Amino acid sequence: MKKKTVGLFGGTGFVGLHLCSQLVDAGYHVRVLARHPQRNRRLMVLPGLQLIEGNPYQPEDRKKLLEGCDVAINLIGILNERGNKGTGFRQVHVDLSKGILQSCLDHKVPRLLHMSALNADAAQGASHYLRTKGEAENYMHTISGRQIQITSFRPSVIFGPGDSFLNRFADLLKKIPLFFPLACPDSRFAPVYVEDVVYAFVRSIDDPETFSQRYDLCGPHVYTLRELVEYTARTIGVRKTIIGLPDWASRLQARMMELVPGKPFSMDNYRSLQVDSVCKENTTPCPTPLEAIAPSYLGHEDFNARMQSFRTQANRE
Ligand SMILES: NC(=O)c1ccc[n+]([C@@H]2O[C@H](COP(=O)([O-])OP(=O)(O)OC[C@H]3O[C@@H](n4cnc5c(N)ncnc54)[C@H](OP(=O)(O)O)[C@@H]3O)[C@@H](O)[C@H]2O)c1
Repeated sequence: MKKKTVGLFGGTGFVGLHLCSQLVDAGYHVRVLARHPQRNRRLMVLPGLQLIEGNPYQPEDRKKLLEGCDVAINLIGILNERGNKGTGFRQVHVDLSKGILQSCLDHKVPRLLHMSALNADAAQGASHYLRTKGEAENYMHTISGRQIQITSFRPSVIFGPGDSFLNRFADLLKKIPLFFPLACPDSRFAPVYVEDVVYAFVRSIDDPETFSQRYDLCGPHVYTLRELVEYTARTIGVRKTIIGLPDWASRLQARMMELVPGKPFSMDNYRSLQVDSVCKENTTPCPTPLEAIAPSYLGHEDFNARMQSFRTQANRE
């Protein structure tokens, strides 16, 4: 049977790396559109993967990726924008998703998988992030089933080698002296393992039951943010007092941190954290518990370093 070709937008990020690897293992030809191919040469270790230089906002570059593809996958997303009015979120989540969908239609790609987020809701979303994610998802599904089959995935926070959630806390726990001031300590999450998330993507490609569906993805256990940070501290062997901030101090921290370059925490993040990131019903099983995986990468060799060693073994620089 002819190998299918999959074109990825956002394939250079954390989820993208894991997804590319599973797609290649499952026998797909994989193409990734990369704004900076030089920075993403680690992907080249995957047999047959094609890195295509381009900007996903440019229809011509989208065409380079999508022509001849059987499946498109959109993973592009941001957690913070430059301003704070929602314009940046709208550009990346809504405008870009619309452009990608249009290009799929123009180039007759019959299947599109779209990454959204748990609690995404165009009308009631707690933050710009969640509202724009919801708006993009709704737009996709107004088209689904006509000329293209669309499936959306809505994960809680994702963990795994290279994540920016537990790894970020691990890093901060090592750097911040004495005690650790934690905003929104009672927010709840059902962390989901990245390999379970990408498995849901891969197995849905040819499954007609998933066409036009939206799937919430949650791991098997629910934790408060405080529990997750305490677990991270124990796992990396850091003894630190974690001080859960009350609501007013969490807001203050968000306001201050959004002035720091790179916005490590923002008011929009604070608003997202006001809603528990847990599934009401879990229709797609993501069975891997955090405790089975996190010790293998937290505080150990960094994922990128591991990819470098694969590359060296494969004689690819
Ligand atoms: N990680 C989680 O816990 C989590 C939870 C729920 C939903 N999600 C969603 O899952 C998706 C993937 O997340 P991730 O953790 O893999 O994110 P990530 O590591 O930050 O990767 C984001 C990807 O999007 C691309 N991208 C970001 N902004 C862009 C822009 N303005 N123009 C073009 N490309 C842009 C990045 O390209 P460059 O490499 O060129 O920067 C990268 O390929 C996102 O849509 C995210 O919202 C993630």
